[in-house]
Amino acid sequence: MSLSQKDVLSLREMRPDEMTLILDRAQEMKEVLSRPIKKVPTLRGKSVVTMFFENSTRTRMSFEMAAKTLSADVTGFAASTSSLAKGESLKDTILTLSAMAADAFIIRHSASGAAHFIARNTGAHVINAGDGTHEHPTQGLLDILTIRLHKNRIEGLTVAIVGDIAHSRVARSNVWGLTKLGAKVRLIGPETLLPAEVRQLPVEVFTDLQEGIRGCDVVNVLRIQLERQEAGLFPSQREYAQKFGINKNVLRLANPDVLVMHPGPMNRGIEITPDVADGEFSVVTEQVTNGVAVRMALLYLLLGGSGDATTH
Ligand code: CP
Repeated sequence: MSLSQKDVLSLREMRPDEMTLILDRAQEMKEVLSRPIKKVPTLRGKSVVTMFFENSTRTRMSFEMAAKTLSADVTGFAASTSSLAKGESLKDTILTLSAMAADAFIIRHSASGAAHFIARNTGAHVINAGDGTHEHPTQGLLDILTIRLHKNRIEGLTVAIVGDIAHSRVARSNVWGLTKLGAKVRLIGPETLLPAEVRQLPVEVFTDLQEGIRGCDVVNVLRIQLERQEAGLFPSQREYAQKFGINKNVLRLANPDVLVMHPGPMNRGIEITPDVADGEFSVVTEQVTNGVAVRMALLYLLLGGSGDATTH
């Protein structure tokens, strides 16, 4: 089995069996990453171009490490020193790079829909590495993989996503991915940080943290996106931390084996206390490790790796 579409742009558009395929492959890729020599020839001769128009540590580095582990050639496109700065359009930029025979583009952009636009203008594969407030499908997949590795299932779990839902592409990808695989999702946040369409999503909505977190199997804590806040969405960071910050006391309301997740980067002391971020229930660094495996799996499935992806 392979993926049905040329591109990976959103989990809303992905079938559940395709998600399961990616998660299964990612578990195999984790074995490659545990070897002393982390290199397989699977994608030798393939070229991957990373195009990050917004800052990133985890996603950019893990895509680069994933592609290099599979022996693909990786080229980073720097927007600020490119001809975009001389007024060249995004469409002409993509046509130009496609003409250099790039096999895949990894796109992060502040505009929702940017990855779809690029996908329509190239024959190469496009992976959305986060577009505006729309989706971040590989983050959704790595979050789901992390949950699956701990709980051995997704179906029937209750997952709370807490915080700045309105600005969160991570929340949207998690909602689509988790609900398609049978989990119940609760979105928790102040009314001002819930998107207008929230009650059309297949989720339960809570504006009271204590009520929402009760009996959850997983608490996924979102970053307050200080760079995307319009004025007045919450009174102060201090008040946000008091009402919606995840601390040890509120976590006691969740199930005893709760997983605490955060996509990063964390605002310690605002949406999560340092003792919870580093505590016994936290799987934040495991999420990062699983991100490399998920991105290896996707590159392998899209770029036509044949045979056993994990062969020496
Ligand atoms: N989770 C995430 O997307 O992190 P980066 O912005 O560092 O890539």
